Amino acid sequence: MKFKMPFLFTILAFNCHTTFAAGNVSEVFKQNCASCHGESLQGGLAKSLVDNQWQYGSSDKDILATIRNGVAEAGMPAWKALLSEEEMRGLVVYIREQAYQAQQQQASPTADNQNNELFKTQGYQLSLDTVMSFDGALWAAAYLPNGDILATEKRGKLWLIQNTDGQYIKTEIKGIPDVWYHSQAGLLDVAVHPNYPRQPWIYISYSEPTSAKGKNSKGGMTAIARGQIMDGKWQQHQQIYSADVKFHTAAGVHFGSRIVLNNGYVFFSIGDRGKMDLAQDLTQPNGKIHRLYYDGRIPQNNPFIKDKQALASIWSYGHRNPQGLALHPVTEAIWETEHGPRGGDEVNLIEKNKNYGWPVITYGINYNGQPITDKTEQEGMEQPKHYWIPSIATGGIEFYRGKTFAKWNNNLLVTGMAKQELRRLVIEEEKVVIDEVLVKNQGRVRDVAVSPSGEILVVINSLDQGAGRLVILKSL
Ligand code: HEC
Repeated sequence: MKFKMPFLFTILAFNCHTTFAAGNVSEVFKQNCASCHGESLQGGLAKSLVDNQWQYGSSDKDILATIRNGVAEAGMPAWKALLSEEEMRGLVVYIREQAYQAQQQQASPTADNQNNELFKTQGYQLSLDTVMSFDGALWAAAYLPNGDILATEKRGKLWLIQNTDGQYIKTEIKGIPDVWYHSQAGLLDVAVHPNYPRQPWIYISYSEPTSAKGKNSKGGMTAIARGQIMDGKWQQHQQIYSADVKFHTAAGVHFGSRIVLNNGYVFFSIGDRGKMDLAQDLTQPNGKIHRLYYDGRIPQNNPFIKDKQALASIWSYGHRNPQGLALHPVTEAIWETEHGPRGGDEVNLIEKNKNYGWPVITYGINYNGQPITDKTEQEGMEQPKHYWIPSIATGGIEFYRGKTFAKWNNNLLVTGMAKQELRRLVIEEEKVVIDEVLVKNQGRVRDVAVSPSGEILVVINSLDQGAGRLVILKSL
């Protein structure tokens, strides 16, 4: 008899867990919280959780602590014995998502703009001017020093957009490599050599088809090439990074692919390709920022050069899908944005040899509402400088420099696809102190670039991703 007690206990605890822990966050909420806080979190017996009014602290940590420990004197139960840490973290994401939706329904930043094209921001009133439309989705844009624009269309077209007295004319640059165009795969980033036109190199990232590696199967992997545009053609083609065919996969997701060139080095990102654990595996290119010389050689002072197992091109690791990479104009530090899972899009300051934690730590949960991990921090892993719950689906980023929006110098411009946003982050001493939405509800904002004269160019795709346009922000 003596031994039966613990056994019974185990069963009870287990049952308890399965009853309460249906897993999916919305189910967990419905079963445990809705009776007091309302089915749609609008309040009932207890207060609304979507009004952004917090009596017990408004940070994610505070909210998690309230759920964990309860507020006995107010009648809020403690949940730590009934729900797992993962589930309670999932509830924080869920509450944030629902609060965001409720807010959206109440008021959007464009509500007072009748024509939806004027945006009042801290510092400037903005208008949007479409300079060019495309009948395919765009991925990236970059300026040449003379004010011409390069833009990539995901299905495999590179465009040169020439500006003659304010008139824009586009020409397709023929002769770029074949790309695997499928789901998130295709022709991706474009970047210009910092010494252009003395060094007339243009860099592109793309999903290299597995067939190009001589293997007859569907799939691909991120590759980087450079070439020179002469007579409207891609010439002097050099592939500077191509993953071994054993790293190719048919998964159509998480190619990363942003390129930054500085000081003799090219930095580029590769996402986890849908296999999250590979981000921690130094023998795999997935989930990493890589660093090469401009011509593709591997710098001998890369962090893992002496590690026989590790890939020598790796600069930092533990990334999910880094789709934004930018050079700080003053410090020359590399900043990154990373597309998180459901919740937990991150802004990181990228440093040599560092581990950014995916998927061991994250502020997000799985898309299906299941938890990924209960950890948001761990020794030896970097914390994001900023993160978003719910996710904005971060794309390209760029630091502002110029005269047109002089008050915004050194601010980080961040794009959000799912949330259809262009944001501006003010960074002071490596901390994000202001996060402002500049543009909203104009389509999926995929990339941003700053012209040599200081104009802001935004790459926006239609919601069905069937068409793209280049838009210039003007200050009124
Ligand atoms: C028995 C009723 C009851 C249940 C069930 C309940 N709560 Fe509460 N909750 C309260 C009360 C009461 C408060 C205190 C605020 C108030 O007076 O409404 C509160 C407060 C909170 C707060 C803090 C709000 C603030 O202003 O800081 C959070 C967050 C919260 N609950 C989340 C949850 C979650 C998540 C669940 C489900 C796991 C849950 N609650 C289940 C009654 C409940």
